Parts: sequence; C-alpha cells; structure tokens
Amino acid sequence: MEIKKLFIPGPTYVHPDVLAKMGTPMIGHRTKEASELQRNITRKMQQLMFTENKIVLSTSSGTGLMEGAIRSATQKKAIVFSVGAFGKRWYELARLNGIDADLHEEISGHATLPETVEGYLKTGKYDTVAITHNETSVGIMNPVEAIAIVMKKYPEVVWMLDCVSSLGGAKIEVDRLGVDICITSSQKALALPPGLSLASVSQKAIDRFLLM
Ligand SMILES: Cc1ncc(COP(=O)(O)O)c(C=O)c1O
Repeated sequence: MEIKKLFIPGPTYVHPDVLAKMGTPMIGHRTKEASELQRNITRKMQQLMFTENKIVLSTSSGTGLMEGAIRSATQKKAIVFSVGAFGKRWYELARLNGIDADLHEEISGHATLPETVEGYLKTGKYDTVAITHNETSVGIMNPVEAIAIVMKKYPEVVWMLDCVSSLGGAKIEVDRLGVDICITSSQKALALPPGLSLASVSQKAIDRFLLM
C-alpha cells in the first residue's frame, strides 16, 4: 500500500498503536463498557483542558460543534472576531442558522486585541463572543490571557473559543480563563483520525441553551 505523508495542518500523523486499536472488534455502544470508555475520555479531556466543566463528544468535525455552540448559546446577538477563514466560518454558521451576529474582521496579519473585544462588549448589544484561539489559515494565535481579563468584566456573556488547531499543542486553562465553550477536533494536536470533536461546556452556557 502506498504510504501518504500529509503536509497539512490536520489530519495529522496517527500513531500506529491508535490505528491498530481501531482494528479491534466492536463493543456495543449501549454497554457498560462503552459508558466507561466515555467516562474515561471525559476525565482525560477535563485534565487536558484544565476544567471541571462538562465534556461534549460530537460525531461531527469541529465545525459541527462551532455551529451548535453559536446557534444554541446566542439569544440576543453574537459578536464574532475573525483573523482568518475559521473566524469568518463562525459568522457564516451564525447567519446560515438565522442567528443575529456581527463580524469584526481584523486587518490581515493582526491578532484580536482585548481592547477591540471590550469596545464591542461595552455596547451591551451582545450575549455571545466567538474567538479563534489559533487561526490555522494565517498562523495567528490570539492573546487569550489578555482577552480573558476583559471577558471577566462581562460575566453575563458566553465566551466560545475555537481551539481546533491548538488544544493539546498549546496549554489552555479553560476554568482559569473563564472560557464557556472550548471546542476542539480529533484530527489536529490530539493526533486522532477526523470525525470526532469535543468541547467543554460551562454551566452558564448550559443554562443559556435551556432558555432557547
Ligand atoms: C482553527 C480551526 N477552526 C475550525 C476548523 C474546522 O474544524 P473541522 O475541520 O474539524 O471541522 C479548523 C480546521 O482546520 C481550524 O483549523
């Protein structure tokens, strides 16, 4: 068989041990064994994300959870900060779902600054903020530590962070930063095959979903 080497940001290299495990016989998806497997994944993801928040596993790629998050958490209006293609995707997902959203596109090559975020939030118009942690399309990592200081001044706003190409490669302390929905995909730094995405979800975000 021809071995393909991928020189793309993801899917990344999957270790042969992982591929071999995928070739083992199925277990029932409604068995205790499957529940235990899911509990283990949850525990490990909570450790990796430095969070006590609930973990959601989705049989979609990360885009599915981005769509679910902006659609389910926005009651009033979302503000999407984009520094490249994946930031803009979040805005497009909002629009396609009929969710009211504004888009702030940064000048090409520049990161989202905390003062820009604050400028929008202090208008009081928004109840969700969507930010890309690492914008794969241009190679920009946004300053989440500084942005977190601003977000803490607006505790009623739900903060969603796209960590698809960073989580597992960069340290993201979800609880300390106060990120409400932290989304990642299996095929990047987690070095698993594509088709699964994971998110931590705060109680504040869950309460918002229940209002919808
Ligand atoms: C920063 C970022 N966000 C979102 C996505 C979309 O993720 P997925 O391909 O898992 O839907 C990608 C994929 O490359 C990405 O790099």
